[in-house]
Amino acid sequence: MKIIAQGAEAILIRKGNSLIKDRIKKGYRHKNLDLMLRKRRTKRESRLLEKTSKMVDVPKIKKTSEFQIEMEFLSGKKLSEWLDKLPKTEAFRICKEIGKNLAILHKNNIIHGDLTTSNMILRNRKVYFIDFGLGFHSARVEDKAVDLYLLAQALKSKHFKSWQNYLKEVIKTYRKGNENVLKQLKKVETRGRYKSKNGTN
Ligand SMILES: Nc1ncnc2c1ncn2[C@@H]1O[C@H](COP(=O)(O)OP(=O)(O)OP(=O)(O)O)[C@@H](O)[C@H]1O
Ligand SMILES: [Mg+2]
Repeated sequence: MKIIAQGAEAILIRKGNSLIKDRIKKGYRHKNLDLMLRKRRTKRESRLLEKTSKMVDVPKIKKTSEFQIEMEFLSGKKLSEWLDKLPKTEAFRICKEIGKNLAILHKNNIIHGDLTTSNMILRNRKVYFIDFGLGFHSARVEDKAVDLYLLAQALKSKHFKSWQNYLKEVIKTYRKGNENVLKQLKKVETRGRYKSKNGTN
């Protein structure tokens, strides 16, 4: 047994080939609210992992209980730590895969909700999406645009040297059939800029 990560919401423990994500008690939340949120996020993540496993690469679910998910341990690399170290062509190939995977999720009306390169694992040259705890179902163009916007923001903050090129590659494969989302993204961006100018973002 080994603690892999202690996130804001969960503790992640490796047990052989399994990874246990345990949503821990948060003392600052009211007890009932805390129970409700932990249960809901666990259930949500488990369902989405199950569903998306038929569409893109995600860790396989082994078992789910109230606050815990046991899933396949992916012995790979966290993309946030590796993307900038890879040869450019390989980094761009990965970005295209991200765009392709995101287009598949959105086509199926699944919003990831927390798309960052810390929530992606690289294994055998494949990109695995993880951390669906904030994911949800939606057919709304706005929700899809915000999902993409969050990815753009994450690329900007973690990979500030190349983020624009990365995003370009993501969009290359995302674009097909998603022109309406890209149009909406422009609006979301304008709103983001307006907000930060006014100090509310
Ligand atoms: N199936 C897995 N196999 C290998 N490592 C994993 C797996 N799931 C998660 N991890 C590792 O644990 C970290 C945290 O997992 P996850 O993002 O699901 O939880 P989190 O509570 O959102 O954490 P954070 O607050 O840090 O985002 C990941 O960044 C990754 O390094
Ligand atoms: Mg995470």
